[in-house]
Amino acid sequence: MSREERGIAPASVISDRGAEQEAPRWRRDFPIDWAEDDYVSRRDLVKFMVLTSGAFAVGQLWILYKSLFRRHAPAGAARPIASVEELPVGGAKTFNYPEGSTPRLLVRTGERAFVAYDQQCTHLQCPVVPAVEQGKLHCPCHNGWFDLQTGVPLAGPPQRRLPRVLLEVQGQTVFATGVEDSAT
Ligand code: FES
Repeated sequence: MSREERGIAPASVISDRGAEQEAPRWRRDFPIDWAEDDYVSRRDLVKFMVLTSGAFAVGQLWILYKSLFRRHAPAGAARPIASVEELPVGGAKTFNYPEGSTPRLLVRTGERAFVAYDQQCTHLQCPVVPAVEQGKLHCPCHNGWFDLQTGVPLAGPPQRRLPRVLLEVQGQTVFATGVEDSAT
C-alpha cells in the first residue's frame, strides 16, 4: 500500500545533494514529517506489544510445563547415601541426589530417624545448617529458620519450604529414594 493510500503525507526526503543544499538546516536534522513519525510509532508500538505478549505467553507456558514435569517426576532410583553408624545422633552430612544435584543435607535426628533436605535456603540459596537441639535448620545469611521435621519456614525471609529428600533406612544403610518438590 502506498503512502498516499495510507493517507500519509509524502515525506520530505532529501533526494540529492542539490536539494540538500537548498533545504533549511532544521529539515536536514528532522527529515521525517509528523504524520509519518506517528505512523511509525504506532506500528512499532503494536509490534513491541505483540512481541512482548508472545514472550510473556511462552514464559508462562514454560513455567507451567516445568511445574507439571517436576511434580510428576518419577522418584528415581534408590541410592545409598550413608550408613547408620556413620553419623552420631544430631550429626549431619551433605550428599548429592540424584547424581549432580545441588547439595542435600542429611541429618540424623534419632536412633534410626533421619531427615534430608535441599541444603540451599529457599530465600537466596545460602546453605542451611542444622540446629538439631532446637529442632530447626538455620540459614545464617538473613537469619532464616526452618522446621527440622518438615522443612517448613518458621522465621525470617524464606517463604517456601525446603525440598525434602525421601529416605528409607534398610538395615544399616540410609537410602535416598526421591525428592519432594517444595511446592507439593
Ligand atoms: S538466604 Fe536464607 S534467609 Fe536469606
